[in-house]
Amino acid sequence: MVDGTGMCGGCRVKIGEVVKFACVDGPDFDGHLVDFDDLMFRLQRYKATEREAAAKFDENCRMRSIRTQREGQRDHGDRQRASQEEKKPSA
Ligand code: FES
Repeated sequence: MVDGTGMCGGCRVKIGEVVKFACVDGPDFDGHLVDFDDLMFRLQRYKATEREAAAKFDENCRMRSIRTQREGQRDHGDRQRASQEEKKPSA
């Protein structure tokens, strides 16, 4: 679902011979009447574009580098704590 108002058509599904929108007419439909062939075809239509967008997102997403940086800092902190534990005199 994109907008949830029946305007974008992202959730359009054929129920028998009638076109419905899951966001405003559903989400429950008689599964025997759903045109799954049409639905699956529609869901595949933008797969290549979605794959390209996901790849670009992966390339440009700064969250990955921030997470890596934070994990590095945490690892550094863990090593420091372990080192301090080793230096503590045993009781
Ligand atoms: S979510 Fe856009 S039409 Fe249903």
